[in-house]
Amino acid sequence: MKILLIGNGAREHAIACALHRSPQKPELYAFMTAKNPGIAKLCKNFKIGDTCDAKAVSGYAVNNNIDFAVVGPEAPLAAGVSDELESNGIGCVGPKKSAARIETDKAFARNLMKKYNIPGTPEFGVFTGASGAVEFIKNSGKEWAVKPAGLTGGKGVKIMGEHLKNPDETENYIKEVLNSDRVVIEEKLTGEEFTIQAFVDGKTVLGTPMVQDHKRAYEGDVGPNTGGMGSYSDKGYILPFLTQDDYDIGIKIMEQAVSAIKEETGVEYKGFLYGQFIAGKDIMVIEFNARFGDPEAMNTISIITSDFVEICKKIINGNLNEIENLEFKNKATVCKYLVPEGYPENPKANRELAVDENKINELGALIYYAAVNEEEGKIYTSSSRAAGVVGIADTITEAEKIAESAAGCVKGDVFHRKDIGTDALVRKRFENMKKFRGEN
Ligand code: AMP
Ligand code: GLY
Repeated sequence: MKILLIGNGAREHAIACALHRSPQKPELYAFMTAKNPGIAKLCKNFKIGDTCDAKAVSGYAVNNNIDFAVVGPEAPLAAGVSDELESNGIGCVGPKKSAARIETDKAFARNLMKKYNIPGTPEFGVFTGASGAVEFIKNSGKEWAVKPAGLTGGKGVKIMGEHLKNPDETENYIKEVLNSDRVVIEEKLTGEEFTIQAFVDGKTVLGTPMVQDHKRAYEGDVGPNTGGMGSYSDKGYILPFLTQDDYDIGIKIMEQAVSAIKEETGVEYKGFLYGQFIAGKDIMVIEFNARFGDPEAMNTISIITSDFVEICKKIINGNLNEIENLEFKNKATVCKYLVPEGYPENPKANRELAVDENKINELGALIYYAAVNEEEGKIYTSSSRAAGVVGIADTITEAEKIAESAAGCVKGDVFHRKDIGTDALVRKRFENMKKFRGEN
């Protein structure tokens, strides 16, 4: 069996490993924008090109007699790569362009949630002109989150009272967004964030363990938003400061979103679905993504023991309901991202990265390469996140220590957040939850 993977980040490296360890022993192919050394090593063949060039991707798939494709990132989904592959008879794990709008168009996502009465929808407004948006905010007397409607790699959201310190800054940001997009103004939500990633075949939603990402660049959850600096999961499915009920509510919301997408667009959602929630008094939806999370994929995909190739086939064939239970190692995981110094605002790019993979193996840790490029056996950073290291152990505390040691095996002009997964940070989450749920 021949499988084509599209994308070259750490999430895709984790997906490549999961496909590679399938007992079905598939031949892997990859279409990447830069040579990810980890993915390249697992592939029979790969091509470097524009992953958003749907014709080029599907041409490569057809020429190599690919059985099915797996799309990792959102940009190729937005560019219609799944549509093009399917029109050439190649099944695809990754929704078609119209269904992917659940991520690629935040206005579509919020309007869909409202129209289909999906729980967890915050108050919001979508605007094409600054005066309407500014009026809306002024009349409310409240603080809001300001978002571009389109894709921004997780870096476009600014929150009043945090990133936007006064009405002038808010207005200026609204205008900046409106230069190229519509602006979504939405209720400022408070609580602890969590992610549920799921496999979806159009009807069935099979969830994986909860993960918590850390969007802020610096320790103590301060600084600009990033694509995600690191993440952890606990043994089983539930984060230590959340409950099974929280998980079940999240899954229910995702099921409702999948059926609303079908109803609204006429297209079945097939692929990975990411629900980002915030747990306060209620469970509210921050956003949906039409893919696995990055870094969160590194947590869950690293410990999945169910056959990943079989899951992908069932997503495409619409018979995921035949899988009663996904299986995972009963372990906690901590992922830390090494990112270029200066990231996300002024990243130092094109610096050599020295990685002691043997030492990382000895530690029992994993490394997944992200936005790096391999040239003549050397690895160079780009302006985005460079590599994720993952520790796996019985507790978050132990997994954190392993991840931290593994981070020390990567040398270069990079930094990472040392606090992710530490006891002190997880304790803070417990205290926050008590406060948000009024248990104090
Ligand atoms: P997104 O790109 O939608 O994932 O948003 C990035 C980050 O902004 C999220 O992880 C949240 O921390 C924050 N955020 C997004 N929407 C809201 C909201 N409505 N209220 C408060 N924080 C938000
Ligand atoms: N970790 C956030 C995301 O993948 O969008």
